[in-house]
Amino acid sequence: MSIYLKQRKKNILAEKRTLKNVRGTRDILPDESYKWQYIEERVRKIFEVYNYKEIRTPIFEETELFARGIGELTDIVSKEMYTFFDKGGTSLTLKPEMTASVMRAYIQYEINKQMPIFKVYYISPMFRQERPQAGRLRQFHQIGAEAIGSQTPETDAEIIDLALDIIEGFEIKNYTLKLNSVGCQSCRPQYKTILKDYFRHFYHELSEDSKKRLENNPLRILDSKDERDKKISEKAPIILDYLCDECKAHFEDLKSFLDNLGIKYEIDPHLVRGLDYYTKTAFEIISPELGSQDAIAGGGRYDLLSKEIGGPAIPGVGFALGVERMMLILEKNKYNFGEPSKPFVFIACLDTESQKLGMNLAQKIRKKMIPCEIDLLQRSLKSQMREANRQGAKYVIIIGEQEVKSGKCLVRDMRNGKQMDVNFEQILEFISSKYAEETTKD
Ligand code: HAM
Repeated sequence: MSIYLKQRKKNILAEKRTLKNVRGTRDILPDESYKWQYIEERVRKIFEVYNYKEIRTPIFEETELFARGIGELTDIVSKEMYTFFDKGGTSLTLKPEMTASVMRAYIQYEINKQMPIFKVYYISPMFRQERPQAGRLRQFHQIGAEAIGSQTPETDAEIIDLALDIIEGFEIKNYTLKLNSVGCQSCRPQYKTILKDYFRHFYHELSEDSKKRLENNPLRILDSKDERDKKISEKAPIILDYLCDECKAHFEDLKSFLDNLGIKYEIDPHLVRGLDYYTKTAFEIISPELGSQDAIAGGGRYDLLSKEIGGPAIPGVGFALGVERMMLILEKNKYNFGEPSKPFVFIACLDTESQKLGMNLAQKIRKKMIPCEIDLLQRSLKSQMREANRQGAKYVIIIGEQEVKSGKCLVRDMRNGKQMDVNFEQILEFISSKYAEETTKD
C-alpha cells in the first residue's frame, strides 16, 4: 500500500478538508492563461526565426542525471530536488532544469552523428523545493534554448542575442546583462585555491553558509546575498585575472561579437551560477523591477556536461528564462496581451425543440471554425442575453417556438442592437460572411 493510502486510512474519520494547490505552485485560470498562450506563441515565432526547433523531454528523469550533471554540492541537488523512488526502487527526480535532460537526449540519440549543431528550445515546467516568495516558486516555468555541438564564441553571442530578443520582444527595457567567464578545468582549480586562501583570512567573519562553502565551493561565496560575505568578496581576487589563454581568448572574442551586435553588457567578475556545469561564459539578465529574485534569465557554456553524464566531449551553450518572473514585470508595466478569445456568436434557445435546432446550428458553425456558444443552463432569454453580452459575443441568434414554426430565426447585432430575421437555410452563410468580414478587418 502506498504511503499516501496508509496515511489516508489513519485519517479516514477526520473531517474532510477543502483541498488547495500545494504551496509554491500556482493555478493558471482562464483569465490568465490567455496571457501565457500569447507569450508562448510569440516566443515560438522568435525561436523559429533563429532556427531553433522544439524539444520535449519527460517531466522526470533518473536522479543520477541531475546529481552528476548539475553537481552534488549545488543547492539544487543537495536541497531542492523533488526526488522519490518508483516501485522498482529507482530514484527519480522531477526536473529542476532542462539542460541536463537535453544533453542526455542528445547523447542517447547520438545526435552528433546526425548534424553538426543541435539548436533546440523548450517551454516547460520545472520543480525546485525552494522557500516560496515573490518570483520564487516550487513549480515554475522556463523558456530556454540550447545550442549543442559548437564551441565557438559566436554561438554564445547568438544565445545571448536570442535571450535578449525575447525580453525586448515584450518591451522590457529595464534590464542589465551581466557577463563573466568562470574558466575551465585547466584554469579554475588554481583560481579556486587562491580564492580559498583569501577567504580563509576572513573565516570567522563569513556567514555560516559560506563557511560551509569554503572548502568545496568557494566560488559560490562570491554571489552570496549575505552582507558580511558581500563586503569580504569586494576585495577578493577575480577569476578574469586567472583565465588560461583559451578561456581568455574565448571571452575577448565573445565580447567583440556582442559589441558587433550592439549588445550592452556589464562585466561582473563575481557572477557564478548555481549549477556546476558551467565553463567559460556565464551570464545573467537581471531587472530592478523584480526585487530580491532579480534574475529574469541565466545561462552559459557547459563544455564538460556531456562527459560528466557519460557522453563524448561535446560543447554546448544555452539559457533559460523564468516565465513567472517575466510575467511579474509585464503585469507591472500593464503589458497589452490582447484579449481572451470570445464567442463570435451566441445561440439563445427558448425551449427544448429550439434547443435541438440550436445545437445542430452550433455544430455547423463550429465545424466552420467560428467561435460559437450556446446556452446549456436552460436560462430565460433575458439572462441568456446578459450572458452573451458578458462574454462579448458579436451576434446572438434567438430561436424560440415562433421561430421554429416560421422557419426563421432572429439575429441581433450586439454592437448596434439591430435585429433581423434570417431564414434557417441561410443562417450559416450569413454568420460565415459576417465572420469573414470581421476577421479580414482585423
Ligand atoms: P537557472 O538560473 O537556475 O538556470 O534558472 C533560469 C531562470 O529560471 C532564472 O533566471 C529564473 O528566472 C528562473 N527560476 C529559477 N528558479 C526559479 C524558481 N524557483 N521560481 C521561479 N523562477 C525560477 C538554469 O536553469 C539553467 N538550466 C539555464 C541554462 C540553460 N544554462 C545553460 N542552458
